[in-house]
Amino acid sequence: MGATIIDGKGFAATVREKVAAHVAALQRDHGLTPGLAVVLVGEDPASQVYVRSKGKQTVEAGMKSVEHKLDAATSEADLLALIAQLNADPTIHGILVQLPLPKHMNEALVINAIDPAKDVDGFHISNVGLLGTGQKSMVPCTPLGCLMLLRDHLGSLSGLDAVVIGRSNIVGKPMAQLLLGDSCTVTIAHSRTRDLPEVVRRADIVVAAVGRPQMVQGSWIKPGATVIDVGINRIEKPEGGTRLVGDADFDSCAEVAGAITPVPGGVGPMTIACLLANTLTACCRANDLPEPEGLTA
Ligand code: GUN
Repeated sequence: MGATIIDGKGFAATVREKVAAHVAALQRDHGLTPGLAVVLVGEDPASQVYVRSKGKQTVEAGMKSVEHKLDAATSEADLLALIAQLNADPTIHGILVQLPLPKHMNEALVINAIDPAKDVDGFHISNVGLLGTGQKSMVPCTPLGCLMLLRDHLGSLSGLDAVVIGRSNIVGKPMAQLLLGDSCTVTIAHSRTRDLPEVVRRADIVVAAVGRPQMVQGSWIKPGATVIDVGINRIEKPEGGTRLVGDADFDSCAEVAGAITPVPGGVGPMTIACLLANTLTACCRANDLPEPEGLTA
């Protein structure tokens, strides 16, 4: 194995420390405490785990954490009323509505009801448009985390060929915008792409975000390329039990790549770290204070 293993877990801890230090300074110098509200509708077990983790890390960073857990049968009108209340609350700087929402709700309508300045997920249509036009926005957490890892590992990304595999609104599309913003030549590949191995072989940077376990093979990777694996897939082990794997086949990719993120311990921990960073950024912007350095796009 030749590749450097990019330590996302360690880097995320550094991001959380930076956030905590900035939060402490905000409190000391301005009497301000950033506040994050997380709204969970229904009982999806994976979502419950995420929400618990978000709440815990928010408090550890010195910020205020509020959780609203609503019954799966809650009406869309009641959810919109809660969002309106959080939009108007000056102690809340970030609002996150955990997805997926129950089937009877219109996800786009709900997300677009959040004040764009408090949209720490960066999913509001205004933030999508601002990012797409290179203006200051709230940036989706997972792609922001990938960008931080890439900048930390590679320094300047200018002129590099980047291939993003996956075209989701949460990861693929914003990731492509961020890479373009850092002057990469960007290709977005997806399930209908012809000759994906050949497309990937051109890339200095490969971001795998397709949700297919171990799909990206080492034979597809240009020697020395950087592989960022966003996938988190649980698979059965031959000897019984399960384990987590990414969208890249780690062992074969690590033979060829210059650097690669592991699963777990790569991109995963960066998502919540960036959520904390976005909440801090939103609080600074709401109060016309300088934004934290190195924690935004
Ligand atoms: N569900 C899975 N990932 C996410 C995310 O990044 N944000 C929200 N709000 N819900 C999610």
